[in-house]
Amino acid sequence: MGKIKRIGVLTSGGDAPGMNAAVRAVVRTALDCGIECIGIRRGWQGLITGDFVRLDGNSVGHILSRGGTILYTARSEEFMTEKGQQKAVSTCKMLGLDGIVAIGGDGTFRGALALSRLGIPVVGVPATIDNDVGCTNYTIGFDTACNTAIECIDRLRDTMQSHERCSVVEVMGRNAGFLALYVGIAVGATAVLVPEKPLDFQKDVVERIQDSRLAGNTHFMIVVAEGVGSAVDIGKQIKESVGIDPRVTVLGHIQRGGSPNARDRETATRMGYAAVRAFAEGRGNVIICTQEGWVVETPIEEALEKKKHLQMDRYKIMEAMQLGGSISSFDD
Ligand code: F6P
Repeated sequence: MGKIKRIGVLTSGGDAPGMNAAVRAVVRTALDCGIECIGIRRGWQGLITGDFVRLDGNSVGHILSRGGTILYTARSEEFMTEKGQQKAVSTCKMLGLDGIVAIGGDGTFRGALALSRLGIPVVGVPATIDNDVGCTNYTIGFDTACNTAIECIDRLRDTMQSHERCSVVEVMGRNAGFLALYVGIAVGATAVLVPEKPLDFQKDVVERIQDSRLAGNTHFMIVVAEGVGSAVDIGKQIKESVGIDPRVTVLGHIQRGGSPNARDRETATRMGYAAVRAFAEGRGNVIICTQEGWVVETPIEEALEKKKHLQMDRYKIMEAMQLGGSISSFDD
């Protein structure tokens, strides 16, 4: 890789709180290293269409605390095709981009791998509320999204407690249960359903509600990861099997918005910094990861092969919190 003079930065896939903090860190670090930075808008699609904006130090002022992404984001089907990728390469050549920092999740990094194979160096920065990127312990946005979900569920708890009801809450996470399990532990859920664990409705839901009732509880919180299926269906099954009438809430995109918390701002800044330092020091085609709190680099190809498994010990911890037969079904 020759000397890097100008890079592009883009955000792609589902947005995540802290993406702006990462963009800011990329731009400011690039300037610090004498590298020019161009913002590519609307993710990989913007690289195809040449949708760019010049970024200087001031243009990323006051975005550290803002949710969403000032660069916009998209899920580009065209970029999945060879023709789309060739157009993106042409844009890089036209704009004189020596490399791209791509901020997003697994889908974004599959795009990064394709582009790198066509000769454009890419450095990836993991940002998704799902925390489902195999090579990294942590993805930007997860902690804020968990806190948003917890705040919403705490509110639901108030009304469920007053009415002595059962709440079924669906949280995001795509095909993974990281968000659901983390949130479920944090709210003291009666049950947490995750896609990683085959559902035994009688044992995982019915008996947990019954045990909780026998322990004296009169309200129940069932957290369902979207990867398990519809919370509405789970609610109907509870009504049929337990004879109570649950209220179902799908938290949806509310979990993706909001100002990033301290962890996400700080991690995004360290990752954005590391991404540009990699380029400045002649290393491309890596994903910036966190491992045991440290920021490290993993080659893209290797990174995409890594699988992240849900920590089932945490699932056991969640279950153990219920069996004590506490007075409240939310072990505050
Ligand atoms: O990957 C982030 C995520 O929010 C997932 O949790 C969810 O399944 C998906 O994106 C929703 O995507 P969209 O915003 O395109 O509906």
